Amino acid sequence: MNLFRTKNIDAMLATARTGGLKKVLGPLDLILLGIGAIVGTGIFVLTGTGALTAGPALTVSFTIAALACGFAALCYAEFASTIPVSGSIYTYCYATLGEIVAWMIGWDMLLEYGLATSAVSVGWSGYFQSLLAGFGIGLPTALTAAPGALPGVDTFINLPAMLIMLAITALVAHGMRESARLNNLMVAIKVGVVLLFIAVGVWHVEPANWRPFAPFGASGIFNAAALMFFAFIGFDAVTSAAEEVRNPSRDLPIGIIGSLVVCAVLYVAMAAIMTGIVPYQQFAGVDHPVSLALQLAGQTWIAGFVDLGAILGMTTVILVMTYGLTRIIFAMSRDGLLPRRLSRVHPVHATPWTATWIVGLVFSTVAAFVPLRTLAELINIGTLTAFTLISVSVLVLRRTHPDLPRAFRCPGVPLVPLLSVAFCLFLMAHLQKTTWIAFAIWMTLGLAIYFLYARRHALLNDRGA
Ligand code: ALA
Repeated sequence: MNLFRTKNIDAMLATARTGGLKKVLGPLDLILLGIGAIVGTGIFVLTGTGALTAGPALTVSFTIAALACGFAALCYAEFASTIPVSGSIYTYCYATLGEIVAWMIGWDMLLEYGLATSAVSVGWSGYFQSLLAGFGIGLPTALTAAPGALPGVDTFINLPAMLIMLAITALVAHGMRESARLNNLMVAIKVGVVLLFIAVGVWHVEPANWRPFAPFGASGIFNAAALMFFAFIGFDAVTSAAEEVRNPSRDLPIGIIGSLVVCAVLYVAMAAIMTGIVPYQQFAGVDHPVSLALQLAGQTWIAGFVDLGAILGMTTVILVMTYGLTRIIFAMSRDGLLPRRLSRVHPVHATPWTATWIVGLVFSTVAAFVPLRTLAELINIGTLTAFTLISVSVLVLRRTHPDLPRAFRCPGVPLVPLLSVAFCLFLMAHLQKTTWIAFAIWMTLGLAIYFLYARRHALLNDRGA
């Protein structure tokens, strides 16, 4: 049996063209969709840990992470504009690189999206608690965070994180998908909050706080870049709308790259201001660093607004990620690689109900008991692996399918895809050893499941491939 058998690209394109989804989205919608999926826990929460790792040079770390994403995004954009069908990298790989690669990347994305829902729920919880504290309400310490999340504090379970994840699961299971209008509103609030922070915060910057600029040297900067990469994850969500875009070949690349550039500029400005207001050491053990900076600057009211905006913003990220995850499971199950039951649609709600609730139960438990940093690193290694594969795929596809119409061509091939691979591997090398071990276990498990289950049940078997 051929491990590298592929699905037929022409048939997939034909399905996409006649798929029946309304083609209504333009470039601006896509940029907003991207920003909606990108801005979340990374900037609102992890920036504190990032500042502790790199010091004020966090701005440089953000720039490095943005560059890595930028090169990967150019490759992603070529893929997206060539095969504009929904299903993201998993589907692309099934059409080009073959089943086993598609399976491994799909398996990898289950980890990425799944843990991302947990991670953003944990971030949500930090801001929710900060908002409650503003009203003088405090939860019992044991219920505020995962065990070991706060050094020296006896925490047991992150209850708010678990509950928000379950609430979003219920919404997705009942057929709520992120509507473009709701998304645009949330993006406006999120970006508004970020701009508000920049506009208010800039007046409280003490340049003395930027010295020394890089207290932990180059390694601190690189380690923080590997962590803060998390803050950019999500621009790939733009591609999931491929079948609903008016002019996918032109607009998808604009959406992907545009959202990335906007976020990179905002992040660097925020990092500079945060480390300018607060001496970086004070971010230790803080899970709402952005509003903390405003509180320390005496802007308590604005800090409250930021809490609220961050909470709303992160809620949409959880929604988009949960939705995306269930759709990847759906696609893999429909192809026969995962049990068919997971793509069965609920008779009333018309959603993959079973798959959605399994996702919700598993990842709300993860959100309750695993600290954010551990989650973020695992997500990063999974995503960086996916980006590496995409970049290699662009090169492979140019050789195997040279005549496929490519409305957007990644510039500077092979240099840009190779730079993308190099940046991704470099960032991966700066993640912790335990992250590598956990990731290796996950991927090995995936390989075993492929040979024991997926390969035997694949729909392509019926085609006699
Ligand atoms: N980039 C997304 C966030 O920071 C995953 O929440």
